[in-house]
Amino acid sequence: MKDACAREITYLRLSVTDLCDLRCRYCMPAEGVDKRPHGEICSVEELVEIARQAVSLGVRKVRLTGGEPLVRRGILEICRGVAALEGVEELCLTTNGTALARLAVPLREAGVTRLNVSLDTLRPDRFAHMTRVGRLEDVLAGLEAARGAGFAGTKVNVVLMKGFNEDEIADFVDLTRRYPLEVRFIELMPIGEGIREDFLPASAVLEAVPELEPADVSGVTRRYRVPGGAGRVGLIEPMSHRFCAACDRIRVTADGRLKPCLHSDREIPLRGLAGEALRQAILEGVAAKPPRHYMVETGRSDAARNMNQIGG
Ligand code: GTP
Ligand code: 5AD
Ligand code: SF4
Repeated sequence: MKDACAREITYLRLSVTDLCDLRCRYCMPAEGVDKRPHGEICSVEELVEIARQAVSLGVRKVRLTGGEPLVRRGILEICRGVAALEGVEELCLTTNGTALARLAVPLREAGVTRLNVSLDTLRPDRFAHMTRVGRLEDVLAGLEAARGAGFAGTKVNVVLMKGFNEDEIADFVDLTRRYPLEVRFIELMPIGEGIREDFLPASAVLEAVPELEPADVSGVTRRYRVPGGAGRVGLIEPMSHRFCAACDRIRVTADGRLKPCLHSDREIPLRGLAGEALRQAILEGVAAKPPRHYMVETGRSDAARNMNQIGG
């Protein structure tokens, strides 16, 4: 399926919950979010039906997001249901990693093909401060468990923040010398709790590690490598380097609303729809994709939601 700008849409980001076990300062309010009454969040069957119809329209890659997808009851059932759809080539999941030590093997068995793990610092004290409640050792154990479970191509997502982790850029890059990981530095977006004063352009990575050499472009990521390194370094630059012209994705929130763009307030309700009616609603959402976001001009996202409700 193509949108009005002739962009081919092949990627569905499906949020399975807006809850999370962490409280990262730029993402979640300190007190967390209220658990919604049962029934406001899509059931396992509804989520799988949304994925089924999206796949029938040409989606080839599905990513499960949150909040934190691994706190969702029935997450393995959701994975199995989506993985079983004919036409799904990749079933990915973006996680904070805290539950991976326990769930890496079951996720692999349920058909997940690749993991992205969010990790903004390698210092235990900073991790505890940023996440308000988390322990770094859990995430490191999770990364190890993912490798042990046979996951390849795991990516580590690092949101760049001035005065918080800019002095750790070289340490993160060092990981890619030794391990076959892709470490991706993400520019902080002015959405939800994201604070503009903390913004650090991704060019800071190239300044901190001049030996990085360009490799290729993959989706929204420009990739680099250190000579001889086992892994890759990626830059995701929503602010400095707009990549919207190559956008290939749609998003669905855990309460069943299709977002044509991460940063637009347009939402198409999908709940209660199935089969052909659901397909038409998805096509309506694709047709409504704006050409790009306007964060650079306006300094803010138009998304009327926090990041934990969209899943990035
Ligand atoms: P891969 O399949 O591994 O390439 O993953 P991905 O980059 O699509 O997914 P992930 O969940 O790891 O997203 C990483 C970061 O990129 C998150 O902070 C997202 O918010 C951001 N991001 C992903 N897609 C978009 C997009 O379409 N627009 C903008 N502005 N940011 C995006
Ligand atoms: N800007 C950039 N990235 C963000 N994430 C959450 N909030 C923001 C923001 N304001 C990232 C998380 C995770 C991904 C899904 O989104 O760190 O890696
Ligand atoms: Fe949770 Fe991810 Fe938000 Fe952190 S960034 S609070 S892990 S949803």
